[in-house]
Amino acid sequence: MINEARVKEVLATVNEPNFDKDIVSYRIYTGCEISGSDVLVKLEIPTPVYPAASLRELTSRIETALKGAGAGRVTIVPKTVTAHIPAPSEKATLKGPKNIIAVAAGKGGVGKSTVAVNLALALHRLGAKVGLLDADVFGPSIPTMLGAPEVPAHASESSRIVPAIQHGIKVISVGYFVNKDEAIVWRGPRVHALMQQFLGEVEWGELDYLVMDLPPGTGDVQLSLSQLIAISGSVMVTTPQEVSIVDVVKGIAMFEKVEIPILGIVENMSYYKCPACGHHDEIFSHGGGKRLAQEIGTKFFGEIPIDTRIRFGGDAGVPVVVAAPDSENATRFIELAQKVALAIAGNVLSKPKKLPRLSVIK
Ligand SMILES: Nc1ncnc2c1ncn2[C@@H]1O[C@H](COP(=O)(O)OP(=O)(O)O)[C@@H](O)[C@H]1O
Ligand SMILES: [Mg+2]
Repeated sequence: MINEARVKEVLATVNEPNFDKDIVSYRIYTGCEISGSDVLVKLEIPTPVYPAASLRELTSRIETALKGAGAGRVTIVPKTVTAHIPAPSEKATLKGPKNIIAVAAGKGGVGKSTVAVNLALALHRLGAKVGLLDADVFGPSIPTMLGAPEVPAHASESSRIVPAIQHGIKVISVGYFVNKDEAIVWRGPRVHALMQQFLGEVEWGELDYLVMDLPPGTGDVQLSLSQLIAISGSVMVTTPQEVSIVDVVKGIAMFEKVEIPILGIVENMSYYKCPACGHHDEIFSHGGGKRLAQEIGTKFFGEIPIDTRIRFGGDAGVPVVVAAPDSENATRFIELAQKVALAIAGNVLSKPKKLPRLSVIK
């Protein structure tokens, strides 16, 4: 006879396809209802952007395992939740966003903003509630990359900042507020005050993911953010060649010191595929990102080619994920979004449920 205890025992042998960890210890299985030999299995899927293929695979693994144990009809009811570190306290000024994803790089010009923008839009396209914070005080490029906002940023009645809406995501950029020439000379305390304002005084509302575009390197912005807020993790962007890799290694070392988890590495401008003749050219060498990920034991999130359509999307205010959502380029970013969300979920689920309280912004 199948009963609740037996179902749990059987499901403890079923691995989730991405985590390679069983669904009982990762709390994806949340309970069942049994009627005769029929079993209804309740699942909590740890991200709203879970790949459809993974859900199919998981469903089939559960069915096979339960039927093997004598179950009749197996019904699976997946509910989507967003895995996140428990909210620190009611008083936290940053209540809405469940996860903060920092997009970082050692150098400028490697495509950090391009990745941040397309990652945010890909998460949105997959159904998540998303915000984007352009924290690149010294070279904010999000306003250019996203074009004219559908709703510009403005002050609320209570004088808080309401983010702009662009292509369906909530956006705040340093570029909306500060003069670029002025920001260039900012020192630590001003930068810190601005970051505090962006996190504490912006009405982000409920968000599954807040993506942050950081300035290059290991400066005041990175330091302030790490002190102000719990960051779910960082996506490190590099180009394949050695000079970029060396700098991203420095970035990773700093993040480890200030306890920002590294989610993984994405290699941008990986290769060029000529749209006219199909020739494949590795302009900046190849494979540096993957090698680095292996060396430091982090995930490799994949390669983004160098492609005129990616650059053009950024310049024209319509990033490739919006301009050509079904294109190969957009697919790369969609897959990146799924991998990043799974990496966050994996980090959260591998920890015990109750975590000590985190410090919050005052
Ligand atoms: N994969 C890519 N293919 C083509 N152009 C790219 C790609 N990634 C970035 N770019 C272009 O390179 C320039 C620098 O990218 P950007 O995202 O602003 O870098 P960063 O934020 O690291 O300084 C921009 O003009 C951008 O459009
Ligand atoms: Mg940038």
